[in-house]
Amino acid sequence: MKIRLGPLQPERILRKLLPRGLFGRSLLIVLVPMMVLQGVALQIFYGTHLDELSRRLAGAVAGEIGFMIDQIDRDPTRRTLVMQEADLHFTFHTVFIHNQILRHLPPPDAPGPVDTDLARALVQDVHRPFNVAWHEHAGFLRVNIQMADGVISIDVPRKRLFIGTFYLFLIWLIGSALLLVILAALFLRTQVRGIKRLAEAAEAFGMGRDNGPIRPEGAIEVRRAATAFNRMQERLRRFLSQRTTMLAGVSHDLRTPLTRLRLALAMQPSVSPDDLQDMESDIAEMEHLIGIYLNFARGEGSEQAVPSELPALLEEICAAAKRAGAVISLSTPEALTATLRPEAMRRALTNLIENARRHASQIWVSAARSGASIQILIDDDGPGIPAQKRETLLKPFESEDPGGTGLGLAIARDIIVAHGGHIYLLDRPGGGLRVSIDLPG
Ligand SMILES: Nc1ncnc2c1ncn2[C@@H]1O[C@H](COP(=O)(O)OP(=O)(O)O)[C@@H](O)[C@H]1O
Ligand SMILES: [Mg+2]
Repeated sequence: MKIRLGPLQPERILRKLLPRGLFGRSLLIVLVPMMVLQGVALQIFYGTHLDELSRRLAGAVAGEIGFMIDQIDRDPTRRTLVMQEADLHFTFHTVFIHNQILRHLPPPDAPGPVDTDLARALVQDVHRPFNVAWHEHAGFLRVNIQMADGVISIDVPRKRLFIGTFYLFLIWLIGSALLLVILAALFLRTQVRGIKRLAEAAEAFGMGRDNGPIRPEGAIEVRRAATAFNRMQERLRRFLSQRTTMLAGVSHDLRTPLTRLRLALAMQPSVSPDDLQDMESDIAEMEHLIGIYLNFARGEGSEQAVPSELPALLEEICAAAKRAGAVISLSTPEALTATLRPEAMRRALTNLIENARRHASQIWVSAARSGASIQILIDDDGPGIPAQKRETLLKPFESEDPGGTGLGLAIARDIIVAHGGHIYLLDRPGGGLRVSIDLPG
């Protein structure tokens, strides 16, 4: 069966195999070319060089053995002398065994490349039957040669066939590669740390955790990004605090004339008590609305996110809703810590539960950890919101209730998004609205 690879598939496989982080990728960019280069150098230079060297070493040993055997063949009476000379000059160790016959002929297969070279050279230079014990002895190999009246056994030190520099070269290659990896890793880590720190700071700031300016480090570009981020953070902070101050001023300035109006009204004898009550309730509503708008506009405020116990917070909010007449049941684990701005989150959850109380007769609230995030569900048995209206009603000033401000859902969404979370309006299984909130754990 043939497996057809689509044009995108190899790319996808490659992408899966490649490291995803900047650190891993940069390291790979340094390492891959170096490995390839060293591999090619090793193959070209040492591959051929090594072959040649091994052939020559084997040739020298075989030549010396051949020379020795030839000398003995020419004049067998000089055998002992020749063997002594060979031991002395060729660093062999030779022994003659009278009347022995070699059994294993021809020589067994050579186990390694160097041995193959030697076997070949021996066949060329020794014109008598022989065999070789390649690995029976540590440190040397034994060549046995059949002579007319016995066997000459020659121990050849392995050192004479061994090429030490090759291992040196290999160690040098691996050592230099390791050194490069360590240096590159150390260097890259600082570079990547700057970017990582910037990303973390931006994320934390987005979730309302103000950790102050970050320290610029790494390459110029990364430093510049960090400095720009610090400046942006500072501007935003100043903007937020200006807005809060201004809003507090407006609130105060508007409330004072309203209070004056209320007092003046109470002292008007010509107004009928019914009219008076209407006007007073209008004024009360205006004060209430000012309060709500201010809360919305204040939004972020300057509250800091802190690790908070979500179950306790939900308990308080539900207790308040119960006092206001809601039938509400709460289910949470005993401990569930989330990093929150408690007052903002209280406002968001209160708005949602308040909506449910207004539209339904029963409410179920639950919170649980789900994977890396925290999920809060607020279910009710009311009429729910049709799917096509959900996005609209989440916007500010969109309301279907007479007298509603249309800010409840908008404020809740703002606060939840500012915590790095999401809010979804869903159908509750069994009818009613389900508000589902995901918060980063
Ligand atoms: N739990 C709910 N069940 C049914 N409808 C809801 C629910 N919550 C909100 N709504 C609808 O969404 C609209 C917008 O709600 P909200 O933003 O809180 O503003 P307001 O409550 O001031 O009208 C409401 O007018 C209401 O029609
Ligand atoms: Mg509301």
